[in-house]
Amino acid sequence: MSSSQAPIRVAVLGCGTVGRQVIRLLQESASDLAWRAGAPLELVGVAVKDPAETGLWQELDPAYLTDDATGLARQADIVVELIGGIEPARSAILAAFEAGASVVTANKALLGSHGPELYDAARSAGVEIYFEAAVGGAIPILRPIRESLAGDTITRILGIVNGTTNYVLDRMTTEGLGFAEVLRQAQELGYAEADPTADVEGFDAASKAAILASSAFHTRVPVDAVSRQGISHLTLDDIVAARATGHVVKLLAIAERRGSEGVIVRVHPALVPRKHPLASVRGVFNAIYVEAEAAGELMFYGRGAGGRPTSSAVVGDLVTVARHRLTGGLGPGESVYLGLPVLPAGQAVTRLQIRLLVRDQPGVLAGVSKVFASHAVSIETVRQTAGDGANGVDLATLTVVTHKAPETALGRVVADLSDEATVVAVAGVIRVEGE
Ligand SMILES: NC(=O)c1ccc[n+]([C@@H]2O[C@H](COP(=O)([O-])OP(=O)(O)OC[C@H]3O[C@@H](n4cnc5c(N)ncnc54)[C@H](OP(=O)(O)O)[C@@H]3O)[C@@H](O)[C@H]2O)c1
Repeated sequence: MSSSQAPIRVAVLGCGTVGRQVIRLLQESASDLAWRAGAPLELVGVAVKDPAETGLWQELDPAYLTDDATGLARQADIVVELIGGIEPARSAILAAFEAGASVVTANKALLGSHGPELYDAARSAGVEIYFEAAVGGAIPILRPIRESLAGDTITRILGIVNGTTNYVLDRMTTEGLGFAEVLRQAQELGYAEADPTADVEGFDAASKAAILASSAFHTRVPVDAVSRQGISHLTLDDIVAARATGHVVKLLAIAERRGSEGVIVRVHPALVPRKHPLASVRGVFNAIYVEAEAAGELMFYGRGAGGRPTSSAVVGDLVTVARHRLTGGLGPGESVYLGLPVLPAGQAVTRLQIRLLVRDQPGVLAGVSKVFASHAVSIETVRQTAGDGANGVDLATLTVVTHKAPETALGRVVADLSDEATVVAVAGVIRVEGE
């Protein structure tokens, strides 16, 4: 870097959990970042909701602050968007592109719902949008997919991409606590939002699954094409039953490519065998397990959230984009040349563990087996545990694990089991993945 190198002008929009840490890194590591980028990264302004709350920004000269995110976005070479949500983040990013600025963002909700609009706008303006922090926080995963694995064919991704749900499921497993109790504790510890819907109902994981699948399969996957089920319906009985069969329950984002036929992307809880690398991902940690034709299996693991870990990925993108601005080239943009169809999740092939409360009487097994056979679904294992004979009826629990079968056939089995005379209730249904 020559001493006369003009600085790259950087605007940060949003100064919350991540924004604050990004500003800190920019200030504390200014000299190193200048050498790595090839020019000083000069902070030209910070957009906040209310600049009057100066008490919050002791480390920052109030002259940097503005409440006009879109106006500030027009005055920089690189805009770092960390407001989150759709608006005003979307308008500010589009304004940045119009003004010739590149953008770094961590906003998975915006990319999941408006990604194509933003990628097209960046391409038309001849600028870049980088978003490593949008999936897996600090974990490098999008650039490895887009760049390191550009010579390979990715066939499947299994990801634990939401720390809140992983924390809740982990505590339920290790401490035998119910969902509601663990969630309350997670909220007290700051691991879950006051409104936990986006996490526990799988919306956050679905946005990330859409981004991962789009990058891995060179195909646009809109977030509403991702089949989604959260974890709020899971009970301690589901967790205990998983343990009994050598599994742990994880909320997985699963993206699969079926040759040239299409891709299937889904988010749901699943039993993962204890020996699978994803089973050992504990607490709020994230991991993304990638299967590629030549590379085989790879796992990317680390802190999927938190201001400081996430700031690492954001500033990494910032340095990369700054280098491109200095050298005049562009990094790999959106790659959608394959344009594969996004297939309905019903076409996914999976296995189920089904827990049935049945009458403890002869012929039950035959009746249940007939239901599976009628939909050409074969059974791998059946375990029976005796009930307590409460209410004068002798009941037992049957835990059936199927072989692989199409989701639609498995769904019909579950529906028919509810109507089977000897079945008192279908107590739990959960997919089995990672085998
Ligand atoms: N936190 C993480 O661990 C993490 C990890 C990966 C990715 N991300 C992503 O990073 C982004 C930021 O997340 P975060 O956790 O830092 O969120 P956050 O703590 O809520 O910060 C967002 C900040 O933007 C401010 N803001 C709201 N409207 C604004 C406006 N019109 N102009 C300027 N500022 C405005 C908010 O102010 P008020 O609080 O006053 O509304 C808040 O200070 C999100 O897209 C998120 O999905 C976060």
